Order: sequence, then C-alpha cells, then structure tokens
Amino acid sequence: MDPPAAIESTATTEPFAPAVPSKMMTPVQFDPAKHLSYSPPSSILKMEDLGLSSTALSSVASTEPFPLLSYEAVLQHRRELFTPDVLDNCLHRTRPGSVQLRGMAPRYSPFIHQFWHSPEVLKIISENAGVDLVPAMDYEICHTNVQLSPDGIAGVRATPVEPPAATEDAIAQFEKDKRKPQAVTDQTKPIIEWHKDSHPFVCVVMLSDARHMVGGETELQKADGTTVKVKSPQMGCAVILQGRYITHTAAPATNMPERVTIVTSFRPRDPTLLDETTNANVRNKSHLTELYYQWTTYRLDVLAERARIAAEALRERYEENVKKTDKEGKKGLCRVETVNVAKMEKWANEQITYLNQTLYEMRPLGQ
Ligand SMILES: [Fe+2]
Repeated sequence: MDPPAAIESTATTEPFAPAVPSKMMTPVQFDPAKHLSYSPPSSILKMEDLGLSSTALSSVASTEPFPLLSYEAVLQHRRELFTPDVLDNCLHRTRPGSVQLRGMAPRYSPFIHQFWHSPEVLKIISENAGVDLVPAMDYEICHTNVQLSPDGIAGVRATPVEPPAATEDAIAQFEKDKRKPQAVTDQTKPIIEWHKDSHPFVCVVMLSDARHMVGGETELQKADGTTVKVKSPQMGCAVILQGRYITHTAAPATNMPERVTIVTSFRPRDPTLLDETTNANVRNKSHLTELYYQWTTYRLDVLAERARIAAEALRERYEENVKKTDKEGKKGLCRVETVNVAKMEKWANEQITYLNQTLYEMRPLGQ
C-alpha cells in the first residue's frame, strides 16, 4: 500500500470512471511484484476461540485485516469495475442504500479474473485459511458492494478510479440524506441480518479510503451466544472468514467519502473434501443462465474427479489382491474382495446427496 499521500494526490490522470467499453481499455497483466502488498495478519481467530469445533475444512475462523492489494491493484480493480459495460450488465439492487456488481470476470474484468486465480493470491488465501482453496466460481469473483451516495446510481457511474480521500468535506457530502428511501427489487432490510454465507470461505477487501471509518466491523457469534468483533479492513487490506460455518453480521459503516468493498468466495481445491457450497442469497442477484452453467460444470467436474479417484483406489487395491493371491500375478477372476459394498454404498450416497444438492440449488426462485 502506498502512503496516504498517494490517495490525497490531486494530480490525477483518471479522475472518473473510463467512459469506454471494457474491450477498449488497455489490458493490464497481473504482476505479483507490482500488484501485491502482502504481509500476514497479526493474528488469526480460531474456531475454538468461538467455542466452535474445527470444520472438516479448517480450524480457522477469521483473520485480522492484513495488507493484500497494492495501491496500483486497488486502482486496477476500480478501473475494471466502474466501466459502462460492468455497470450496464452486472449491477443488481437488492438492498436499500447499496448496489452489487456481480459476474464481471473474466468477460469485462480480465485483470480481476487473473488476480483472483493467480497462484500467488491463492497461496496467500489458502495459507491463511488453513486449507487449499480456489474461487467458488468465476461468478463469485469480486462481488462488489457499493454504498449509494445521495446521487444514487448516477453517483456509482461517476465513481472515480482514484479513491476519494476521506476528508471532512467528502465524508459530509456522502453522508448527506443517506437515509432517503430508495426503490429496490426486494424488501430486504438495510441492516445485514445474522447469517451464514453460501460459500465455505470469503475474502473481503476494502477499495475505499477507510481511515476515518466508524463501524463496519464483522461481528461473529460464539457458541455461548456472546459475540466477537473483527475490525473492517483498510484500503487494499483483506479479511478472510470461514463464513459458511460461522453466524455473523456486519455493522453499518459511516464516516467515509464512499464505500466500495469486494468479496471473493472460495471452495476447497481438493474435490474429496466436504463441499457445502450453495447458491443461497446469490440467485436473486445473478444472471441465472450464466450462474447455473458455472455451477453445474463445477459440480460435475468435482463429481467426475471424485469418481476417478475412487476408481483409481479400487484399481490399486485390486492389483495388490492379485499379487497376494495369484501365483502367476494374472488379473481376472480374483477371488478376494476388492469392492467393499458397504463402503461403496456410503460413497455413492454422498455423491447422490451432492447431485441432489446441485439440483436443489437451481430450484425456481422464491422456493
Ligand atoms: Fe456474510
């Protein structure tokens, strides 16, 4: 992260969102030396700290905020998010006072896609999460929450590439008549209710100047009913949370000149690990034709890989059985058990559950 002076610079070459389609923008290649500003979190909250058991995936509950994106990477994220293409195609309104941008990568946001799939970023995320992770789906890369200013959607369209500095004036301007009622597609309450996420892990990154932010913490529920708060990240910084298994909420944030946060969701890379990913809370803010394509292919790929691994294990076991029992070491008519039917039934039932869940997550909306 560059020093705050860089944020306050008035000599900006790109004061406003580029009014050119994404395909006309100069492509930027992800360069870890230039785009990462990582240093590990000062501490990691464990599931046991919340009085909860480790999950099948990890003992990690949440990290403290830690630096992840360089200032240049913050700018490039913003450059690729606030384009006419993304705003025309990826904007959803489900909550009063904010909009979400979803599903921009890779089509409109190639750098963002590259960033979140890069081995360097996945290594950082995985090390801190305590389990090897990959993005849940491309659709869940860089889900962007933009808090609306008094200018509403027009204000979102005028979002500058360089984050406005958190000066007193800029904050006052943004806070002005924020509570004005606004039309939304459903009547979700403006306050984020206690919930668990749809995806095993999330990484939340701040793309705004949050130096004077008040509130904005993530509150986690402990097993005994008490709660613990995790600080909201500063600009370019990240928090990783095992949100699928921890009931949590986010406190409203104030005292900022704007508020743009991005959330990328992750699932385990190892297909044999428990995968309880769902599409809850995302189906009402997605183009379902694309979401269901990505969802179904990922589920089938996981199943195919699980079947391949299971078949390979049986082949190895069979080889051993032949070696042990056939003097000539010949395959065919092996007289000892290779397939344990009870175990096979357990495996099959797990895959049937997985397939049924795959279908359930594409049920008609509203059910
Ligand atoms: Fe959440």
